[in-house]
Amino acid sequence: MSHIAEIYRADHDEAARQAFVGALKSHVNGPMEADLAKLYYEKLVERDTGELDEVIALFEQEAQYRLWGSAVYTSQDLLWESVGQTVDRVRPEFHRRWQAMKESGATYGSLSLDPELNLPEPIGSREIHRQPGGYFHEASPDDLTSPLLYFSSVELYRAAKGLGTNAKTGEPGMAPLMLKVMREKFPQLEPKRILDLGCGPGTETLGFARGFQEAEMHGLELSSPFLRFAHLWAEEQGVAVHYRQGNAAATPYPDGHFDLIVSHILFHETSHEILPQIMQEARRLLAPGGVFFNADVAYQTDRITVPKQVTNAWQVAYNGEPFWRGFAETDVREAMRAAGFDNDRIFADYVPLGSGDYFMFGASKAE
Ligand SMILES: C[S@@+](CC[C@H](N)C(=O)[O-])C[C@H]1O[C@@H](n2cnc3c(N)ncnc32)[C@H](O)[C@@H]1O
Repeated sequence: MSHIAEIYRADHDEAARQAFVGALKSHVNGPMEADLAKLYYEKLVERDTGELDEVIALFEQEAQYRLWGSAVYTSQDLLWESVGQTVDRVRPEFHRRWQAMKESGATYGSLSLDPELNLPEPIGSREIHRQPGGYFHEASPDDLTSPLLYFSSVELYRAAKGLGTNAKTGEPGMAPLMLKVMREKFPQLEPKRILDLGCGPGTETLGFARGFQEAEMHGLELSSPFLRFAHLWAEEQGVAVHYRQGNAAATPYPDGHFDLIVSHILFHETSHEILPQIMQEARRLLAPGGVFFNADVAYQTDRITVPKQVTNAWQVAYNGEPFWRGFAETDVREAMRAAGFDNDRIFADYVPLGSGDYFMFGASKAE
């Protein structure tokens, strides 16, 4: 059976388009953003009142800022156009493989979908990253378009933001780094049961499962098409993962069911209201001594410059990152304390990655 990366390998025209989009994104995220920072420090800083919304209003009067915004917006449109062409090409092959697996049945893990699940708002009705149709759209009950779009776009995003890990398409990108940091922090950790919250199309889940091969691996996710894809890919890779559709803020698992609960880039896609509920739920689900370990974007307000706060706020308003600012302004240590974790068992660290950092935070539950 061919690997996802082989099916996905862009043909000549797709590669040319994707290279252009990647270069454009690198340009707007790199030199154009750097020029906006210069504009702020040379011209706007003296009128900075300390109120972010007022600083944004100052930027909005500048043609340079509006040009940057329209370039980012266009680069995102082009991203979906270019990725969409690849997805149109690969979709029939994935559907053929999905049908074949449905007929033969699962060998290693399982998939439990919940047609009655109410998608929590506001995420339920948003097109995150402006992905056409969003995470939850299904044109038919077996449609795999949304996960195929999602993870091919993630590859482009990573490259454009300098977070490339060189992982093959479909292979875990960040799980290996998370596992490395986790092992340094918790050398004794030998989980029997692991839960990946907001596991999406399951590529990182495979990394966690491979990292702890003796453990029973579970993945929880809101999107049924993502889960179908995750299940198919895990079965094809011969990795046992039990996937379930559900809301991380209110799961059906019993108290103390897991020794390790992980998430990768879940929290910057959850609203202020849901974030505390997910943290409380994680604490409930952890066995005594269990570990809660999360990785996410490192754009906390207190460590980024004012111009970066302005461009991030723009992403929230116009580019399908509705929860980015809320997460950046959340004190995750305080949120974990409020969820009941002991202060001296909480961690929140910045780990160098590529040209930036990754934010890793969590806690262990008291014995
Ligand atoms: C940025 S994606 C990350 C997916 C995956 N962890 C990865 O690294 O590829 C965030 C995922 O969290 C899911 N999600 C958001 N809120 C959730 C919730 N309350 N419960 C379960 N999943 C949620 C989204 O549907 C989405 O698939």
